[in-house]
Amino acid sequence: MAKFKIETWGCQMNEYDSQKMVGLLKQDGFVQTESEEEADIFILNTCSVREKAVHKIHSRIGVIKKRYKGQKIVGICGCVASQEGRALMEKIPYLKFVLGTRSTHLITEAVNRALNGSKFLDSNDHKAEMDAPITFAERAGHTKAYISIIEGCDNFCTYCIVPFTRGREHSRPLSIILDEVKDAVEVKGIHEIELLGQNVNSYAFEGKTFADVLEAVSNLQGVYRIRFLTSHPKDFNENLVRVIAAHDNICPTIHLPMQSGSDRILKKMGRKYTRSEYLDKIRMIRDILPESWISSDFIVGFPGENEKDFLDTMDVIQSVRYDNLYSFKYSPRPHTAALKLKDPLVPDSIASNRLSILQHTQEEIQMNKHMSMVGHEYTVLVESLSKKNPKLLTGRTEGNHVVHFEAGRGRQLIGKLVDVRIETVTMASLKASLI
Ligand code: SAH
Ligand code: SF4
Ligand code: F3S
Repeated sequence: MAKFKIETWGCQMNEYDSQKMVGLLKQDGFVQTESEEEADIFILNTCSVREKAVHKIHSRIGVIKKRYKGQKIVGICGCVASQEGRALMEKIPYLKFVLGTRSTHLITEAVNRALNGSKFLDSNDHKAEMDAPITFAERAGHTKAYISIIEGCDNFCTYCIVPFTRGREHSRPLSIILDEVKDAVEVKGIHEIELLGQNVNSYAFEGKTFADVLEAVSNLQGVYRIRFLTSHPKDFNENLVRVIAAHDNICPTIHLPMQSGSDRILKKMGRKYTRSEYLDKIRMIRDILPESWISSDFIVGFPGENEKDFLDTMDVIQSVRYDNLYSFKYSPRPHTAALKLKDPLVPDSIASNRLSILQHTQEEIQMNKHMSMVGHEYTVLVESLSKKNPKLLTGRTEGNHVVHFEAGRGRQLIGKLVDVRIETVTMASLKASLI
């Protein structure tokens, strides 16, 4: 039977889509391989959020074509496929199939046609298929199950391509979400659930809100931990924080992307909140959940960002003291409203400099935060043997810190909750001992 290799770029939503495609292909008898030489088919599940991500994909296709003298079948899925559709097929005649983000259920058809020598293209909006229960996603080797609760995004932040690649918001039925959670817990033995959406707070299905989803998942048997991504600050509210506080198995770990600390820039980004509204929400979270972990995303070098705007961002970072931060240089994307702004572009050297100042500051904050964890006890969900040192196990705290510790009983502990005491730390991870 033909062998396929799947390569995934981008966010958790893409990881989850890849798991779905792997599950479907295996059901049909195809064999997954990590080896390039062995693979007959390459499936590239792509990200288009920044220009660099798209470049990497184009160069990857070039490498596969050259290295294997055109002998391998290559198909593209994901956000670049949705964004470019037919144009991509025309631009790269070597491609055998292009499947949009809402066409992943057609992967076996695409692969079968490619094996028979024909091409396949589908980037339609298949809503009904998204609502079908997804119990076929490949979950082997995972201790956390991704479950999509809402697809797409209607926010149209002026820099962002996601609304053009993932389509309009579509909330999946609550009963289907719960069936998928039960399947992950009862059939696959996975006890950590991560609920996914570009903006989980927009969830709306037959009068149910995101807080209702959290509560319902939390009440299911065998769910040790629930995480969720991503929350848009404009929709993030006190009711939700109270639900988190009331349920021990909902991690008090909140990713609340701010993007900029300057009101002027937030307005140009179309984020629909002000700096002070955002900071009020951080205060509210910390009042209700004194033990909570907050992370964020920031963009530097947005058109028109001046030194004062950047200092406003740095001021937020220094005062909030995030537990983790993802930061990026602004990258102009097709279709987006920011392309039409009259503001001057920030020179790349200035944007790079700002990014490095921001990241350096965050490293210091994070290191100090990690140091304050030394000597304290935390519960860790064990994920795997450590990649660098198989004598160690790797797990995560509620706050998503990566923890390595010595593995007396080795593999038996994978997927279980254990208590550890933190001993030494770096910026990126913690070293602990089992209690
Ligand atoms: N739905 C999520 C995340 C979407 S993309 C949310 O709204 O938070 C993840 C992150 O990529 C964003 O939070 C933003 O910080 C960054 N990003 C998106 N578009 C970008 C662009 N054009 N240039 C640079 N960073 C971008
Ligand atoms: Fe992009 Fe904004 Fe939607 Fe997030 S909320 S996916 S940043 S448009
Ligand atoms: Fe990238 Fe698409 Fe996710 S653009 S960040 S893979 S939604």
